[in-house]
Amino acid sequence: MPLQLFRGSILHCLQDPGDSLHSRDAPYFEDGGLLVAEGRVQAVGSYSDFQSSFTEDTEVIDYSGKLIVPGFVDTHIHFVQTDIIASYGEQLLSWLEKYTFPAERAFADNEHAIAVAEFFIEELLRNGTTTALVLGSVHPQSVDAIFSAAQRKKMRLIAGKVLMDRNCPECLRDTPETGYSESRELIERWHHEARLSYAITPRFALTSSPQQLQRSAELAAEYPDVYVHTHLAENRAEVAEVAKLFPEARSYLDVYDRYGLLRDRSMYAHGIHLDADDRKRLAETGASVAFCPSCNLFIGSGLFDLKTAWEFGIRVGLGTDVGGGPTFNMLQVLCDAYKVAQLNSFSLSPYRALYLATLAGAEALRIDDRIGNFAAGKEADFIVLDPGATPLLQRRTSLTDDITDKLFALIMLGDDRAVWATHLMGNRVMLGT
Ligand code: GUN
Ligand code: ZN
Repeated sequence: MPLQLFRGSILHCLQDPGDSLHSRDAPYFEDGGLLVAEGRVQAVGSYSDFQSSFTEDTEVIDYSGKLIVPGFVDTHIHFVQTDIIASYGEQLLSWLEKYTFPAERAFADNEHAIAVAEFFIEELLRNGTTTALVLGSVHPQSVDAIFSAAQRKKMRLIAGKVLMDRNCPECLRDTPETGYSESRELIERWHHEARLSYAITPRFALTSSPQQLQRSAELAAEYPDVYVHTHLAENRAEVAEVAKLFPEARSYLDVYDRYGLLRDRSMYAHGIHLDADDRKRLAETGASVAFCPSCNLFIGSGLFDLKTAWEFGIRVGLGTDVGGGPTFNMLQVLCDAYKVAQLNSFSLSPYRALYLATLAGAEALRIDDRIGNFAAGKEADFIVLDPGATPLLQRRTSLTDDITDKLFALIMLGDDRAVWATHLMGNRVMLGT
């Protein structure tokens, strides 16, 4: 059996490393080896431990001087908003009207969907993201395009067609019935196909009628291992509108709860404006939250309370939320996560930051038996970070031998230039310059 042995500094998380700066839950091998066979991790350890077990079939790939970590897991991103990333001046509801809906209209054109999907997957890989939970547009072919592009790279991806039947332009509306049947067809076509999974995706409570939420829940009940993916309590004006449309609900979260949409394998983006009952309910139903700090700052929505979410036992993943978020790069999103936590008097430790971008995302998506770290048997999705990617990074990281300090500097100063290579199932799919 051909073996690949990747040599370099190696760091991963076995579980939530907590606040410690010397966590045993984040093993580090200064001169490490990652042994991969048929796309899966065989073992990880010190490079010297592997030297005795070389066979003729062992190929050594030398990344000495670089840092190998698990690939990033982006738990909330819109591929159909690629072309409006970094659009000026609006907050959520007017941003949707002015930039987002017009951009999503263009996905009625299949050629456009295919071209954007190709670009989007390349951009994820260039930024070190190896798994993502993705929203398409209302058009089912947008989801065919993104799944096809991911499949060509053998990438693990979860996606769904957006469901919207009100409060958006006529040309972007489906109905409770067409939304249900189109989603069902996509599930039958793609769910469990290679590394792909489907997410039933009502956009948010403002753009789905009660009937559509009802049909979404019925579909979810028919397919218990399909995901549910939506937005929750992101912006104050949005929360006020939801209260008007659903006066019977106790809270925004309660709207989804009443329709039976809270379960494990459900992902709620943002969750900024919540109370203790909401948090308790998220935790006890096994629903997950996607923390998207770069988007929350960029469109001015508010500060997510990460510490409290963790205290309640909620599973939290990290998301770029492109195009509301202005970057594809999870290092930059972690840098914003750190600042948002600081404003809540909570310091996100470097190891916990790495955890958030990797294993925590896998846990939130219930795929931590397959990805998220280098435990034996997991899929070998990993990235190679360059601590000397820019003159400033080179200067800052060469001044320290301490991996904790180096990692923190990489997170604070890194961007796509720090992602040297990306591997999916052991195969290199991106090499930087
Ligand atoms: N809420 C409903 N739709 C969207 C969207 O496209 N982006 C963000 N950030 N929030 C939303
Ligand atoms: Zn979003």
